[in-house]
Amino acid sequence: MTIPSVTYKQFGETVAPVAPVGTKRWIVLYIMVSAILLTTLACWNNLSGGSLIEMFEDDSDAPPPHTEYAKMARYLVHKAEWVSMGSLSTVDAIKGFPMVNIISVADSARSEKSTGTLYFYLTMLDYTAQDLDRDNRLTVMLTLDQDLYCTRNGIDPMEPTCARIMVSGRADKIENGTAEYAFGSRAMFSRHPAAQKWIQTDGHNFFLCKLNITQIAVLDFYGGPHYVTMADYLAADPDKRSKAASSSSSNISERQIPPRFSTTEGTTATP
Ligand SMILES: *[C@@H]1O[C@H](CO)[C@@H](O)[C@H](O)[C@H]1NC(C)=O
Ligand SMILES: *[C@@H]1O[C@H](CO)[C@@H](O)[C@H](O)[C@H]1NC(C)=O
Ligand SMILES: *[C@@H]1O[C@H](CO)[C@@H](O)[C@H](O)[C@H]1NC(C)=O
Repeated sequence: MTIPSVTYKQFGETVAPVAPVGTKRWIVLYIMVSAILLTTLACWNNLSGGSLIEMFEDDSDAPPPHTEYAKMARYLVHKAEWVSMGSLSTVDAIKGFPMVNIISVADSARSEKSTGTLYFYLTMLDYTAQDLDRDNRLTVMLTLDQDLYCTRNGIDPMEPTCARIMVSGRADKIENGTAEYAFGSRAMFSRHPAAQKWIQTDGHNFFLCKLNITQIAVLDFYGGPHYVTMADYLAADPDKRSKAASSSSSNISERQIPPRFSTTEGTTATP
């Protein structure tokens, strides 16, 4: 039944057309059903420990098992769009102190194959470039919580189960016109479109660098850091799923790898 609506209208006042009563009833019913459905889904997801959301998540990007240190290092480097970079300060008041900055990085263009080499732009207007110009030794830190992976799984970022790597090395400037410059700048522009504006800004003179690695320390799970050799680091392919994660082989020692965020482990340990 549709009753045409007649509303009182003052002179000159414009009134938005009102939906017939029958339509309104359907809208109210639709909203109520939607609300009940959403509440049910939210409760179900909470009760099942978030498994409902996980069901819809693509797990092809899941971190490697904690025993695969080289792969974890490559995984974090490839995933990273930025790092915390530490340099030795040249600022008078804190000369020689460790100093940190956020630096945008890329080890390949987005969704392209990982190279393991971090490229980044610096400008001498910035204190990090000034520090590295004096002494190019640096350390970068990357954590699994950079995309809130640990936080979302209820793990404090300081817990050793929230993997992190500390990569130390030297910043090497790459000359414009070389193949490596073309590769590194394309990788940077792909992940950081803003970088194209940086290099075009007069007087900023951004230049491309790469991290020439000296040491890779991986802190993943309890038991202190593990040091990954450059050979193992370069050989690790983060794009390939690990045997333990992908094959159904009945290797008992492989199946005994605890899940990354197992709650059966002691949680009182500190890094
Ligand atoms: C690098 O060289 C190319 C070609 O000469 C030039 O177009 C580009 O602006 C240069 N990049 C930087 C950051 O100076
Ligand atoms: C890293 O630096 C060392 C010494 O400065 C140099 O011999 C080596 O070729 C560099 N590695 C890369 C990958 O550029
Ligand atoms: C099982 O895995 C361990 C460690 O990955 C390896 O050393 C061992 O050879 C494997 N055993 C079999 C039967 O594949």
